[in-house]
Amino acid sequence: MSDSYPPLRVAFVCLGNICRSPLAEALFRHHVERLGASERFVVRSMGTGGWHVGDRADARTEAEAARRGVDLSAHRGAQFTADDFDRYDRIFAMDAANLRDLRRLAPYEQHADKVERIRAYDPAPGDGDVPDPYYGGPDGFAHVHDLLDRTTAALAERLVSGG
Ligand code: 4NP
Repeated sequence: MSDSYPPLRVAFVCLGNICRSPLAEALFRHHVERLGASERFVVRSMGTGGWHVGDRADARTEAEAARRGVDLSAHRGAQFTADDFDRYDRIFAMDAANLRDLRRLAPYEQHADKVERIRAYDPAPGDGDVPDPYYGGPDGFAHVHDLLDRTTAALAERLVSGG
């Protein structure tokens, strides 16, 4: 592939953009870097809701990530808007509600077709949703971290190999 090939623009989307999608963004970035392919991607995360625009990641998400050497301190919350369908090539929703909300927001069918659930790439996809840890205990944050680590690793390998 030519070095001048434009980067693939990838967005991760959850509800609040403070727990799941900021972590998916950071872990995906880590895995493409590990594969030596960072310059081939632009990576962002957003929420379907706007409550946490400008906020740091949830303190519990940040703490679990830091414990594993992943720095989320620079994250600031952003909301996904209809214009983002033109800004991103691939859009990965964390759960079925995010997927439904994004597809409802899509101006055209070809926009809606850019959206898929991230656990479609999980080698052990379970029910297909990344559970929202926001209202739960600390175990939920460790579980979501494990799940997103293996899922973004598989996704990075797929996208780097052109899938
Ligand atoms: P996230 O979790 O979608 O994984 O960022 C949530 C964070 C905040 C809220 C809901 C879910 N909230 O209602 O503020």
